[in-house]
Amino acid sequence: MAYVAPNDRPADKAARYLEVEAEVLAVLDGEPNVTARMATVASMLADAFEHYFWTGFYVVAPDKADELVVGPYQGTLGCLRIAFGRGVCGAAAATGQTQLVEDVHAFPGHIACDNRSASEIVVPVRDASGALIAVFDVDATTPAAFDTGDQEALERLMAKVFADA
Ligand code: SME
Repeated sequence: MAYVAPNDRPADKAARYLEVEAEVLAVLDGEPNVTARMATVASMLADAFEHYFWTGFYVVAPDKADELVVGPYQGTLGCLRIAFGRGVCGAAAATGQTQLVEDVHAFPGHIACDNRSASEIVVPVRDASGALIAVFDVDATTPAAFDTGDQEALERLMAKVFADA
């Protein structure tokens, strides 16, 4: 399943992303805490899109170099730690590039936290200095649920929410 618009929401996915982005920024106005920001983004995006099955952050581990540790998320149980370079999240962290994966089972080293996941997108998250602080991971239960529209919208949203973090 790709984007399905609820009755009272924009039919266009890009318009829906813009609407949710404005809602997220309004909620977070004046809130500097990064965990609160991540929790709010995960909650509001997961609630906004039917194709989001697992939605959340893996943050750069403060206690271990080149490792991600699970952060705020919505969904079934996620793995706790992922090494840089491992799986889709680890590839996003190691390369600093968004990973758009149509078929997770064809991705080398994919980590199956929940075997219902079929496709995913992982977007690097940076602070104001440009340093990587986390990756944002969304999984869907259908193949090729995400496209460059999701990528552009999520990259823009993460830049706006975390560039002043
Ligand atoms: N699919 C991810 C692992 C994290 S979970 O899906 C929650 C990966 O391969 O990086």
